[in-house]
Amino acid sequence: MTTSSTSSAHASGTFRIGGDLEVNRLGYGTMQLTGPGVWGPPKDHDEAIRVLKRAVELGVNFFDTADSYGPYVAEELLKEALHPYGDDVVIATKAGLTRTGPNEWPPVGRPEYLRQEAEMSLRRLGLERIDLFQLHRIDPQVPLEDQVGELKKLQDEGKIRHIGLSEVTVDEVQAAQQIATIVSVQNLYNLQKRDAEELLDWSTEQGIAFIPWFPLATGGLTGSDSPLSELAERKDATPAQIALAWLLKRSPVMLPIPGTSSVDHLEDNLRGAEIELTDDEFAELSKLGS
Ligand SMILES: NC(=O)c1ccc[n+]([C@@H]2O[C@H](COP(=O)([O-])OP(=O)(O)OC[C@H]3O[C@@H](n4cnc5c(N)ncnc54)[C@H](OP(=O)(O)O)[C@@H]3O)[C@@H](O)[C@H]2O)c1
Repeated sequence: MTTSSTSSAHASGTFRIGGDLEVNRLGYGTMQLTGPGVWGPPKDHDEAIRVLKRAVELGVNFFDTADSYGPYVAEELLKEALHPYGDDVVIATKAGLTRTGPNEWPPVGRPEYLRQEAEMSLRRLGLERIDLFQLHRIDPQVPLEDQVGELKKLQDEGKIRHIGLSEVTVDEVQAAQQIATIVSVQNLYNLQKRDAEELLDWSTEQGIAFIPWFPLATGGLTGSDSPLSELAERKDATPAQIALAWLLKRSPVMLPIPGTSSVDHLEDNLRGAEIELTDDEFAELSKLGS
């Protein structure tokens, strides 16, 4: 296993979100910092704070969060751990999913609700402007122009810098592009689950950031029973590192945001930025997906 303590997100290379926000490509997703069912506070509050601080020490400067994680818990922890943020720290938050209980996420895309959530995220995060504000889901009951149009208004008012979408098709992004500039998409994507290939290829051509959620298949690609174990052993790495190295090699616009509630796993994951896969290894791994 690769154990260098100097591993850092810097080794993953950089990407400019929206052409002007430079981040190290290997980021961190905050959803695991909440209670079971992404509901309520974390089991170990102090470890959650340590994870966030350690991430910054190890060069992570791209954090993905949402109003709905907890709800509110993940954003509050980010502020508690990292505020005042370093100049290079980019926080991407989201709105558009409400919470009615553990594991329940009804979408609400009414413009007045999206505006309220943007205002509340600004307050919870302690920011004057949100760097990347993502529509968590397109609400099928609300016209797209009302949802994206409200984000455009918030952008024009200086409350958000860039706009992103989540769980979308190429057609939906193109429709949204008629209303506002879309700089990122965030879809379910990992080595095993690759339904979003078409969106990824299109985003790569367009230079739009592609943020894969569940990059470790919620842990399915990590343990000793991972389908990546054999190659991991050969490369003196862990399965999680191989999963992340594969994503990073897949496209230059790929910004993985692995989530974890533990400093040990965070450090493990960040070493994935240093693993170099040969073209043959990449091809061998690619056969595992669907
Ligand atoms: N846009 C959307 O709709 C959407 C949906 C879901 C998630 N997201 C975002 O995507 C991020 C990533 O997704 P995720 O956190 O749910 O899933 P993930 O990154 O695929 O996997 C996280 C799971 O893997 C475990 N894990 C992490 N590193 C590990 C390691 N090195 N060794 C062993 N186990 C490890 C974690 O457990 P431990 O805590 O024990 O490490 C956790 O159970 C979220 O945090 C969130 O920001 C977005």
